[in-house]
Order: sequence, then C-alpha cells, then structure tokens
Amino acid sequence: MDSLQIQVNPFVKWAGGKRQILSQIERYLPVNLLDGTISTYIEPFIGGGAVFFYLVSNFSISNKIIIDINPDLILLYKTIQKNAMSLVLELRKVEQFYLKLSDDERRVFFYKIRSQFNEERRKINYSVYDYSWVIQSSQFIFLNRTCFNGLYRVNSAGEFNVPFGSYKNPKIFDQENIERASELLEDTIIICGDFSICLDYTDNKTFLYFDPPYRPISGTSSFTSYTKEVFDDDEQIRLANLCREVSEKGAKFLLSNSDPKNINEKDNFFENLYSGFQIKRINARRNISSNGYQRGFVDELLIMNYSDYNQ
Ligand SMILES: C[S@@+](CC[C@H](N)C(=O)[O-])C[C@H]1O[C@@H](n2cnc3c(N)ncnc32)[C@H](O)[C@@H]1O
Repeated sequence: MDSLQIQVNPFVKWAGGKRQILSQIERYLPVNLLDGTISTYIEPFIGGGAVFFYLVSNFSISNKIIIDINPDLILLYKTIQKNAMSLVLELRKVEQFYLKLSDDERRVFFYKIRSQFNEERRKINYSVYDYSWVIQSSQFIFLNRTCFNGLYRVNSAGEFNVPFGSYKNPKIFDQENIERASELLEDTIIICGDFSICLDYTDNKTFLYFDPPYRPISGTSSFTSYTKEVFDDDEQIRLANLCREVSEKGAKFLLSNSDPKNINEKDNFFENLYSGFQIKRINARRNISSNGYQRGFVDELLIMNYSDYNQ
C-alpha cells in the first residue's frame, strides 16, 4: 500500500467496503488514468466510497459522478457537499452527549435516534436542501458508528433495522476527514438512482468502477440488504449488458464481484456473462462464514475491458 496516498477515509462503515483491497485494485487501473486522458470518473455503486476518495485524491479528473440507489446514503454525501460545517457541529453535540451516558442509557438513546431517523425518512424532502438534511445525516453517521457490527441494513420498508452495538468508546466522526471529503465532493455530481443512469455521462474518455452488491456465494452467506430492492442474477445480467454498452461508447470499466469458484469450481456464471473481457482473481479478506466457506481469505473477481493496466 506504500504508493497509495489516501487522504480521505470513508465516513461510514459499509458492507463490501474496498479499503482492504485498494492496493490490488490500484494494480489494475487503466494506464489512461495516469497519463491524464481520462476526463470523467463514474462510480455507480458508491457505498462508502473508498475507491472514489482514493482515485480523486490521487489523479486529476475533471468530471466526477457518484451514484447509489440508497437515498439516505446519497443524502449524506449531498449534506457533506453542501454544509459539512453544520454536520460536524451536530456530530460533535451528539458524540459529547452519548459518550457521557451509561451503557443502559446509551442503548435507550440509540433506539430513540433510530426511531426518529426512520420517522423522518418518510417526511424528508430528499431533493431540496434544508437543515433537516444535516440532522438526518448526523443521525445516519451516529447509527452507523454505534450499531451492531457497524453496518447499514434496511428492512423491506427501507427502514434502518440494525440493533444496538455495545462499543466502549466508539469514534463517531473525524472532523478533518469530513472537511477533506467535502472539498473532494465540491464539484462532484451526486445522484440517487439506478446504476444505468451512468450511461448519460459516459463517453470515450470515461473510466467507471462498478462495485455492485456481490452475487451470493451460497444460499445463506451473503449480505444483500443495502436497500429494499434485491440484487439478483437478473440484476447481474442487466449490469453486464450495461458494461457492454459502456464499452461500445469507448469507455473503460473495472468491476468487482464475488468468485463463485470459491465453492463451486464448475460455476461459470461470470465467465459466461463477461466473455470477451479480462477476468482477474484477487485475494481478499472477508468476514463471511457459511458451509465450506470460512472466515478468512477468499478470491474475488476483477473484470475489465482493457489490458493496458497500471501493474
Ligand atoms: C458493494 S456496495 C459498494 C461498496 C463500496 N464500493 C465501498 O467501498 O463501500 C454496493 C452498493 O450498491 C448500491 N446499490 C444496490 N443496487 C443498486 C442499483 N440498482 N443502482 C445503484 N446502486 C445500487 C447499494 O446501496 C450499495 O451501496
């Protein structure tokens, strides 16, 4: 990881976060990113944004577009873009209050904030900025940093439903990190919606990194509830078709996914779907345990439509 100059860390913990494998992703970036011929970077499944923040801190890219279907996550990015200062003040208030509470009081406070957050989700105007965005986003970060396992997961109604996690001294936020993120987001187009929107912004000077919800590697092992919508094999196929469209436009893409061969050597799902493209296997540490697939290192796929990478 020595060559990486990460200046901003993700401000939320996100399932499938890419911080751990950034150095491996770096090896497979297209050389055009280094020689400056890429002018647009699009990340259609932004999640915690580890790859985005790494790329935009290290390469000069004129147009930056991030997309995610999760409205609360996108509201947080937009709030950091518009009013990071107020968000930091709200987070400081909540952190100071929370850390003084006893364990029992913390639990009560967590569930109170969780119901307020879910209640407000129904009323908030996600398209027009007002101060309620700041409150909602500070609650989003607070819940993410204090819930069990530090994840964001929703039920079928889109409500945040992760239980309380008892951490002794949770670090709720990092002021400097949020301020730096705000600078990097200043001229970024931030969109809540389906990944297919990326086509509107793609041309032959575009690089896209796709990090969709991973295809489950067994019936029980996957975490798939980032949103109330499911991401099944039909969605993986729709995404592969879109990758062919961006390729026809002359853009470069890199895509991550799980490797079904970890548990079934004969599963050629991705080889069939992405035939004609490069498929590389990288080693990732994942906290997944299920039949025949224990906590530890597993292979993941990196799929790309170019062979002139950084390595
Ligand atoms: C694997 S995570 C991305 C992780 C991210 N790269 C990181 O480092 O944190 C997948 C993301 O895709 C989003 N998502 C799911 N379905 C989507 C869709 N149809 N269009 C756009 N985003 C979607 C989820 O909300 C989730 O944030």
